[in-house]
Order: sequence, then C-alpha cells, then structure tokens
Amino acid sequence: ARFRASLARAEEPAPASHRDAGRAPAPAAGFVNAADTDPSLPASRTWARAIHAGSRSSQAGLATLGAARVEDDAAVAAQVAAAKAGASAWQALAPEDRAAILHAAGRALEARRGDLVAVMMAEAGKTIDQADPEVSEAVDFAHYYAERSLDLHRLDGARPVPRDVTVVTPPWNFPVAIPAGSTLAALAAASAVVLKPAEQSARCGALLAEILWEAGVPRDALRLVDISAAGIDAGLGDALLGHADVDQVILTGAYETGALFHRVAPGLRLFAETSGKNAIVVTPSADLDLAARDVVQSAFGHAGQKCSAASLVILVGSVATSRRFLTQLEDAVRSLHVGPADDPTTQMGPVIEPARGKLLRALTTLEPGERWLVEPRRLDDEGRTWTPGVRTGVTPGSWFHLTECFGPVLGIMTAATLDEAIALQNGVDYGLTAGLHSLEGDEISRWLGAVEAGNVYVNRGITGAIVQRQPFGGWKRSVVGPTAKAGGPSYLVQLTGWERTEPST
Ligand code: ALA
Repeated sequence: ARFRASLARAEEPAPASHRDAGRAPAPAAGFVNAADTDPSLPASRTWARAIHAGSRSSQAGLATLGAARVEDDAAVAAQVAAAKAGASAWQALAPEDRAAILHAAGRALEARRGDLVAVMMAEAGKTIDQADPEVSEAVDFAHYYAERSLDLHRLDGARPVPRDVTVVTPPWNFPVAIPAGSTLAALAAASAVVLKPAEQSARCGALLAEILWEAGVPRDALRLVDISAAGIDAGLGDALLGHADVDQVILTGAYETGALFHRVAPGLRLFAETSGKNAIVVTPSADLDLAARDVVQSAFGHAGQKCSAASLVILVGSVATSRRFLTQLEDAVRSLHVGPADDPTTQMGPVIEPARGKLLRALTTLEPGERWLVEPRRLDDEGRTWTPGVRTGVTPGSWFHLTECFGPVLGIMTAATLDEAIALQNGVDYGLTAGLHSLEGDEISRWLGAVEAGNVYVNRGITGAIVQRQPFGGWKRSVVGPTAKAGGPSYLVQLTGWERTEPST
C-alpha cells in the first residue's frame, strides 16, 4: 500500500484541461498570422510559425519582466523581506477568497496557453507535444490545490498555522508545470512565495509570475528573483536559503542539489523531489507493440531530459532472446525525427546545454559487454543536437545501470525471470518511476508488491503523471526530506504548521 496511489485508476475522470491536451493551442492575440504572409505553408505549420514569431517578438518584453533581477545579498534579502511582509495580507484573506484567486490563476494560465507554449519552445527547447500538456498540468495544479486548500480548514480538532515564506526552486526541464505546481501549492497553504526560476528558463518563470499576478495573486505574496545575472558562484543561493525568514523550500532538481541545500542550510525545512534511474520491464505476455511505443515515448520525449524518463528497459525471457521486440524498438527509434524544437514535425529536439560529463559519456562511450543497437550521432558543432541512442548488453552494477544521464540514451538489460528483472529495476539508488508491460494478472500483482518506486505504471509510459490521478513523488534517493506527493491529497498538509483546537462536538 505504500506507494500504490499513483497507479492509474481508470474510473477517475481526467482533470478537465486534459481532455483537450495535445491539441494545437490557438496563437494568442497579437501574434503574426503566418498564413497571411506565406500561403504556401502547409496548414500544420501555420500556427507553429505564428507562435514562434510571437515568441520572438515577446522576448524583448519578457526581458523586462525580470524586474527582480537581483545581484547581491541585500537584493535577495529585500525580496524575502517583501514576501514576509506580504504573507500577512495573504493569510488575512478568507480561505474561499484565496481559493477563488487560485482558480482565477488556473483560468488565466489556460487563456495564455499559446504564450506559455511559445516561450517554452523558444527558451527551453520543448517541442509542441511536450510543451502543450505542460500547460494543462499547470492549469490542473491551480484548480486542484484551490480545492485542497479548503480541505485544510475542514479538519476537526486542528487548524492550519501558515508558514510565512516558502522559497521555490524549480528545474529547467519542466519550466512551467513544476514552478507553477510548487508555487500554487505554497500559496494554497497560505504561504508567500519567493520563486527563483532555473537560470536556463528564467523567462518561463517570469511569464508564469506575470500571469499569476494578473490573475490576482498579490505581488507581495509572490516575489520573483532571478539570480542568474550574478551567477551561482556569487553565493546568492546561500543568501536565499540561509535567510532567517525563509520557513521552507520546495526544490525539484538533482539529488546532489538536495544534498547541497542541506549542507548550505542545515536544519532547513526542505521538500525535494530529485533524480531517477527508471526502468520499464517487458515480459513475454506483454502487448509488444504497445510496449515499444511506450518505451520510445518515455525514453526520448523531451530528449530524455526528465527525472521520470525511461533510461533502461529490462527484457524478460523470450522477449530478450527473440529479435522481434528489439527490431521493433530499433525501427521506431531510427524513425524519430530529430530537429529544432519549433518545427512541429520534430519528435525529438536538442538537449538544453551541450552534452558534457555523464551525458557525453552515455552518448559516446560503451561499457564492457555493451554494443550499440542504435548509435547516437552528433548533428551540430555545439553538441546540443543528437540522434537517439540505444545500447544493449548493459550489465548489472555497471556504470550505465546505476547512473542518471538525463538525455536521449536508452540501455537494454535482460533477465531470465520477472523476479530477476525486479531485482535489476530495484538495484539502483533511486526510486522515482517504474513501468511494467505484462498482460498476466499474477505478474502484475507480484511486480506491484515488490517494485521500489514512488510512481508505478502498468501498460503505460512512465512519464507525464496527471495531477490528482497520479500524485507524483519519489522514494529512496529520488526524494530528500519528508515529501508527500505533488498533485495528491496530502501535499498541502505538509506545507503548513498545525495547532490543536477543541473538537466541535
Ligand atoms: N511529473 C513529471 C512526469 O511525470 C516529472 O513526467
């Protein structure tokens, strides 16, 4: 029962915004209509060109949104002080009024879908199929946390005592959904927020803040800081994390970053969702067509740059020994269209920074016993655009078995039995997502009872958790601090203090 809640429950309806997920967003007002200027463009490219043109023209405007660019400790302290002062007015609102503002934020995010998608494509290298559902997720967080915030006031015998200041430090790979989710959760728990977007996606963070302010979130309940101008070495992160008025921090990032936060600010109340080394197990009973599709999407969506991505596939018994699945996987991977993120035909875009370190090693160097089923190729001088790679023969305990590489490389392992496969799947430091493809009830229940991951999926890809249906959180080194799952019923409970009251009866 520990972490089962994230298994999809088919009877629950998807949140409203997901019913339309994946459709082309309407270009926002003011965008150039490419169809007017170039009638030869195929229809499918028209809106994407328009969005791209719009995103380029709005970049100049967005640069000015980073009004809170802070360059020294005093400026960081001023932002925290403003949030501390703003917390009391936010907390003085009736819970229903705060919830109404959060619902308004959800509607505003939906209304600005085109702008958000455009900025994600232009700044963070997201393809349309990845960026559009991310807006849906942000919308869902707003409405979901608005409702859950009211639950906090319905408990008999206890009342919430809000914490004044929450620092939110999101990653660049989900530059809208994750900062939105963390910020909206903290606001729903009646905390003021200091949002520090990742430096690679600062404009996404700035646009998000702008939308929330316009929807009615008070400027002092949400402060935006961009410390990228000063550089991380300037120690401004320390000033932020170590500030006496910061009550808690919500981090999504690498495990090492979570550990660093603990070192910089011992005693910090930290809620961190961190790294993963995630595998999908495929047994002989599986629907192999479905498995191949789900493995490819989970491994190469957003060029594998997701904590939830499939980095390993573990083939059981005859799936490993017959060529059928491998041939199908190879064909599917070779057919992926790699290109610029703003081309709507692109299925896999570039990685956000030139490959180096672990990712470069994963893309270029085999370990003993391995060979390339599909060898990655570098398509530009910089090392940002790569074709996808698949390495076979990954051995238990090897570097690739154990290391999160965060890019477009998939490793294949084999196992004689399901139990052996589970041991390989669990045999890593992390426990974030895990998948099983099997049509045997016995296998499914055995796997569910043994797998060590926060988010487990059967006969589905392992990325793209849906708010409320699949609350998202980690186990083992995929979490630092006591973190209830984001998008689930307990998430807000941990973000506020509690005081006993007299029971009403
Ligand atoms: N919540 C993200 C996913 O499920 C990380 O892919």
